[in-house]
Amino acid sequence: MPGMENSARHPSLPAFDLYKMIPARLVYKNSSLKILDQRLLPDRIVYITEKTAAGVAKATRDMALRGAPLIGCAAAFGFALELRRLAPASAADLQKKARRTANLLKAARPTAVALFYAADRMLAKALAFAAAHPGRLGPDAHKKLFSMLDREAALVTSEDEAACEAMGLHGAKLLPKNCVIMTHCNAGALATMGIGTAVGVINTAHKQHKIRHAYSCETRPYLQGARLTIWELMREGIPSELITDNMAAHIIKTCGVNAIVVGADRIAANGDTANKIGTYGLAVIAKHHKVPFYVAAPTPTVDTEASDGGEIIIEERSVREVTYVQNVCIAPKGVKARHPAFDVTPAALITAIITEKGVISPVTRANVARNLNK
Ligand code: MRU
Repeated sequence: MPGMENSARHPSLPAFDLYKMIPARLVYKNSSLKILDQRLLPDRIVYITEKTAAGVAKATRDMALRGAPLIGCAAAFGFALELRRLAPASAADLQKKARRTANLLKAARPTAVALFYAADRMLAKALAFAAAHPGRLGPDAHKKLFSMLDREAALVTSEDEAACEAMGLHGAKLLPKNCVIMTHCNAGALATMGIGTAVGVINTAHKQHKIRHAYSCETRPYLQGARLTIWELMREGIPSELITDNMAAHIIKTCGVNAIVVGADRIAANGDTANKIGTYGLAVIAKHHKVPFYVAAPTPTVDTEASDGGEIIIEERSVREVTYVQNVCIAPKGVKARHPAFDVTPAALITAIITEKGVISPVTRANVARNLNK
């Protein structure tokens, strides 16, 4: 049984019933970070162990873990374990090593702002500690520094969990009874340390008996919808079906879809939203069919320095992820291909953005700012 496989590999992790509990995504313990390898889901539950920030950054870049809030939480833990490993000798050394570590983590992926938010938050803590402890750092100072960083990383994680719960409740209120809902990519528990953002909304509404049916788009090329989201929906007992991305318009037109909810990797100050490639197309289809289009994302997803979506960097990933499916080449040898991993949905196509602080609707620059200041 996969759950047993998990605890057999890592006796410190509890055995779990695959279909009742969400596997732990990150386990931070004994100066290491165990990361659930999402590349192997849903077939196998395997953890990889990282002991350095470089290892966490590589796991992030290689998509062993993914999903905006989760890569932020991993970066926070990666920062804490790296500073513990490097044991800076002085305040100046701490400043140098902290800056280098934050930069290393932030270089892992460019679009999800949660990664930058978490690394910068940890960096600010480390720099404040250096300012308060000038000169050499002995064992007592190290003890204080390491436990302060561990606490901060745990806080990043618990805030994410709480934000997911709050978004679930705010979002569920927007959905009608007998809701037929569609989602794209994976904005579920596997993308966060909580119940998920978009899938958290679906789960919460399901517990309130509001969900008649949920559709998960498969999400080419990385198949987050086919491998992760539909698995989460099934495990929650939500009536659901998997569709390929090119079925979305037909299903929306013919199957009574009355809401679409997705997550976000970065939201500009005017509400333009970067999310997994395919989200923009879905929003255009939703507009045509007058179906409300919701984005659920915690407030650290809002990048106030990006005035609009044009300022968001879109990650270009390897074209091998397009020309190969699960290690099988599906295109002619020597083919040219493209792989933008995200797209930007203009604010005008978004009915509402759901954050842990409430609902932003209509999605305007002023309303985004108002939500952030709540
Ligand atoms: O490339 P991924 O799998 O990290 O992309 C994930 C998404 O696009 C999610 O929709 C987004 O991060 C929101 S996660 C709560």
